[in-house]
Formats: sequence, C-alpha cells, structure tokens
Amino acid sequence: MPFYVRQGELPERRHTQFRKADGSLHAEELFSTKGFESVYALLYHLYPPTATLNVTAWDRPLARFHPNDPLLNRHLRAKHIQSTGNAVEARVPLLGNDEIVLSIAQASEPMTWFYRNATGDELLFIHWGEGCVETPLGEVAYRQHDYVLIPCGTTYRMQPRTPTRMLVYESSGAISIPKKYRNAFGQLEEHAPYYERDFRPPSLRPPVDQRGAFELRVSSRGRSAIYTLQNHPFDVVGWDGYCYPYAFNAADFAPQVGRLHLPPPVHQVFEAPGAAFCLFAPRPFDFDRHAVPIPYNHSSVDCDEVLYYVSGNFMSRRGIEEGSITLHVAGAWHGPQPGAVEASLGAAATDELAVMVDTFRPLRLSEQAFGVEDAAYFKSWASSEVVR
Ligand SMILES: [Fe+2]
Repeated sequence: MPFYVRQGELPERRHTQFRKADGSLHAEELFSTKGFESVYALLYHLYPPTATLNVTAWDRPLARFHPNDPLLNRHLRAKHIQSTGNAVEARVPLLGNDEIVLSIAQASEPMTWFYRNATGDELLFIHWGEGCVETPLGEVAYRQHDYVLIPCGTTYRMQPRTPTRMLVYESSGAISIPKKYRNAFGQLEEHAPYYERDFRPPSLRPPVDQRGAFELRVSSRGRSAIYTLQNHPFDVVGWDGYCYPYAFNAADFAPQVGRLHLPPPVHQVFEAPGAAFCLFAPRPFDFDRHAVPIPYNHSSVDCDEVLYYVSGNFMSRRGIEEGSITLHVAGAWHGPQPGAVEASLGAAATDELAVMVDTFRPLRLSEQAFGVEDAAYFKSWASSEVVR
C-alpha cells in the first residue's frame, strides 16, 4: 500500500518492551513481504501467534486446468456457475496459470475457521453482497462493487451479511498500486485515477482475549495444512505499517476520457507479477465529434485478456450478459461485433461496469469453465448473412 496506517496501542519504539496491565509482555509480530525487503506491518498481540497445539493434513483439492487448445476466444456464461459454502470453499476456479488463478464464488455461509493464503495476494471483486473480512488488523467492511485486497499470509475470515457473489483473483505475488501512479515517495500522483483517501484500511476491533483451540487452514504454493492454534488470532491491541488488507470501491475510480479513444492502460487499477488489472467504469465517451466511441479491432499479441461484465449495457459485445466472462487470447483478434461501431456513433456516455485482467502467460481453463462455455462465441465477429 502507498501509505502508512497506525491503529490501537503501540509502544513508543519498535522492538522494545511493551507490557500489559498485568505486567506481562505483549508479543510483537513483524508481518513482512518479500522477506524483509518490501512492505510490512508490526503487530502487538496479547499472546504469541506462534503457539501451535496440533497440525493435520488438509486434503484440499487443487485446481485442475486444461490448455486453451485449439486456441480460441471464449465466452463463459459464468452466472450459471453454481457455488455455495463459505468464502473459501465456494471458489470455483475457471482460468489459471502459474501466476494467477481466477475463480467465481458465491459465499453464502460464514467461515467457522480462519484461512491464510501464503501463496500470494488475493483480490476479491464483489459483484453483489455485503459483509466484512475479519483479520488480526481489524475488519474491512465490504459492499457491492468493492475490490478487497488481502495481502499474502493474512489470517482472515470472510463473513457475508448477505449472499456474496464475487470474482476471486489469487496471485502468486503481490498485487499493488501501479508504479506509474506513484511519485518517488510512494504518494499517489495527481494524475492517478484514485487518491489515498479512497482506500479503506481495516478498523481495529478490541482484542479477542481467548485461549483454547482455534482452527487455521493454511495453503502455500501447493502445500496445505490445518493448524490448531492456542491463541485467538485476533488478539491484536495495535499495529502500524504499510501491509494490511483494504477495500476500494469501483465508484471511487475516476476514469480518464480523451478526445479520441484511450487504450486500456489508462483504466489500470492494480498490477501483479504477470498480470495487469483494469476497471472500466461508467464514463462519458470520447468528445471529438467524429470519434468512434467503442474500441477498435485489436490483437493482444502477447497477453490473454479476461473481462468480467458487472453491470450496464455492454455495447461492443453481442450476447454478453451480467456475470459473463470473455477470454480474448494472445494470437487472435477481437473487437466490436458486426454493426456495433455504427450503433455506437453519437453515443455520449457508457454505463458499463466491467473488470479486466490481462495476463502475460497463457491461461488454461477448468472443466467448470468449459461447462458454461458459449461455444459459438468465436464466430460472433462474422456477418450473420454468411455464417451458418
Ligand atoms: Fe480487448
């Protein structure tokens, strides 16, 4: 994250004695990334977070993917994906490579155990629903059209107040604010499409002073386990630093518009190893009186592009519905379907909301993805008079 946050009670200096009312010491934890060389936070627990009573196997099925072969642009009618359970069990992986996995989940139940993804950052996009993500650093309340970023290794429970439909991106690394939006000091540049104030860090709650047996499920780069912890993970009295979960709402994104069509990088919201995330928010169209408002045909020659259609009128795409996913692949063309350019001329604005990730390594598809595929999608750019 680009800014410093401190909450709760902290000792005057880091790494010094910090005592409780009964005279015993708090347990300091350095929560760090990239070893000790990237963002981190310092947490002060009532009890050591390390106290482990037992460890057992967690037989978690791994996502299985198949190559996109023959190489095709694909449309997944993802709203038909059935999904129930808590926010981790409900995930249905659809697309993935070694750097990122994209799943759909409909979280309908609270989590009764704690979860820790120690492979990389998770980015949730909430299509609908509300609730909160509970962490040792506090609670992040979420609502419709929020991105929720959960740093690698955060112990959390996601507690939906209403059934929550979301897109889940699981990265192998850090998902962060693009460097192009930050000045030499890390502050967001004036031209960035958002401001520090738009990001919602967690609100620290009173520490949970409970000792007993607490179930934590951990996954880390293909390995997993169920830990039984002696101390409640949310026993933090204070923390500070730069590494924490946060939320950002799509409505707080300030999209850029131009006289003529601007390419997707102006809509970028986050970056990650091998991936760039963009947000297409409602906005006025280009203002030149001869401008073609919708995108031109293009070849994304070295990346796969995944759009998730959230709401509004997706005027450059035929047959797309809310909750659809399109995969436009490196090596093929895509663009407006027949008639879409003429139909768009003169339009002043779009109300579409869509989120995108471009990946620089090929994406593969799961059985569940093939199960909801609109198999004729790749023909949708041909004139209907000639296609049979
Ligand atoms: Fe595209």
